[in-house]
Order: sequence, then C-alpha cells, then structure tokens
Amino acid sequence: MTYRIAPSLLSADFARLGEEVRDVIAGGADWIHFDVMDNHYVPNLTFGPMVCSALRSHARTVTGNQVPIDVHLMVQPVDALAAAFAQAGADLISFHPDASGHVHRSIQAIKAAGCQAGLVFNPAEPLDVLDWVIDDIDLVLVMGVNPGFGGQSFIDSALRKIEAVRTRIDASGKDIRLEVDGGIKVDNIRRAADAGADTFVAGSAIFGQPDYRAVIARMRGALR
Ligand code: DX5
Ligand code: ZN
Repeated sequence: MTYRIAPSLLSADFARLGEEVRDVIAGGADWIHFDVMDNHYVPNLTFGPMVCSALRSHARTVTGNQVPIDVHLMVQPVDALAAAFAQAGADLISFHPDASGHVHRSIQAIKAAGCQAGLVFNPAEPLDVLDWVIDDIDLVLVMGVNPGFGGQSFIDSALRKIEAVRTRIDASGKDIRLEVDGGIKVDNIRRAADAGADTFVAGSAIFGQPDYRAVIARMRGALR
C-alpha cells in the first residue's frame, strides 16, 4: 500500500502561503490539500482559483516534480468553480455530492477538464451515490469532521464509513484512492489506515507544529 500525506493549507499561515507550500513539500508532503469554502455550503470562506493558480509554481519538489494539488470543494453549486479550478491547475477536484444537483454530470465535467474527480462524504452522509458512479471516480474522501473548520476532533463513526468505502472500492476492482480528512493526527492515523484509508489530510496536526518534516515523519512511522 502506498500511503500519501496531504497537508491542508487551511492551517497554514495565509500571509506566506507560497513559502508554506514549499516548506511542507520539503518536509515530505505528497499532495497539497486545498480547502475551498464558500460561506454557503459551509460557514467559512477561504480562497479561490486565483490563489490556487498563484501557488501552482510553488508546488514542486526540489528536483522540479509537480506535487499534485488536491482541491476539496466545499461549495454549492459545484460546476462553475470546478471548471475554474481545473483551469487554475488543480490535479484532483473533489466535491460533496449533496452540493451538486447532477453528480454524474459534475464528475464528467471535472474529468473532461483533465482532472481526477473525487466525491466527499460528510459524517452523516450515506454512501448510496457510490452505487451509481464508482466506475467514474478516482478518489473518495471521507470526512472525519463536519466540514468548515480546521482543528476539530475526529468523529469515530468515520472509521466505519472508511471500512464501508474500502469494501466498495475493492469490489469495484478500480484504482480509487481513499482519503480521510479532518481530525487526523499522529496518534490516530494508524486507525484510519487500518480501516482502509490510503491518503491522509492533516491541517492543524502539521501546520500547528514548528517542524513539518518531523510530524510527517512521525505520521509515516505510525503507518509503517
Ligand atoms: C475541514 C477541511 C479539512 C481541514 C482539516 O473542512 O476539509 O481539510 O483542513 O483540518 P484538521 O486536520 O486540523 O482537522
Ligand atoms: Zn479538506
């Protein structure tokens, strides 16, 4: 299993975002998680496609490889902003199915724009929609908290949800990443992995510490 760590910029210093992206990549980040909030679908407001575009050139390893930008849309409606983020250089774009009137169409539009597409499930959101679109998606993101804010505690029922998604992904036989987002720390990342997650978003756990490399190394140690 290849595990990926995706630090969330939500907990980074917004006054120095480019530097934060470079520093966390130097510390070992595999993806950059970019939380887009619209003050409508969630009660908070973050950043848009222009900021994503400005950060893209910073999202490189020292050897010059592009680090994937993992856009998590907490917006309603979905399609216009998804298109804008595809244009802005996003690699993966995930949205909440309950925020789109036509989930299948939103997925097709993201893929037609050249990005990988993901669906995000809130703690109380059922997985039924996966029965109809699992063959079309590249990623499932299970929320460990209610979306909108960093630094919240992990909701344990998300582990059961991760297990249920893992069963569906394995049954599909497709290469679909299973990402968990919210409340992930060094001391619970292993439980999320044991439930079936392979990609881990962490905001406050990483950006809340002075040494990003040390936290990411401890996370990888827990996953080993
Ligand atoms: C919450 C966001 C998360 C957030 C996680 O709505 O989707 O990506 O940054 O923050 P932590 O890791 O602090 O729970
Ligand atoms: Zn997120």
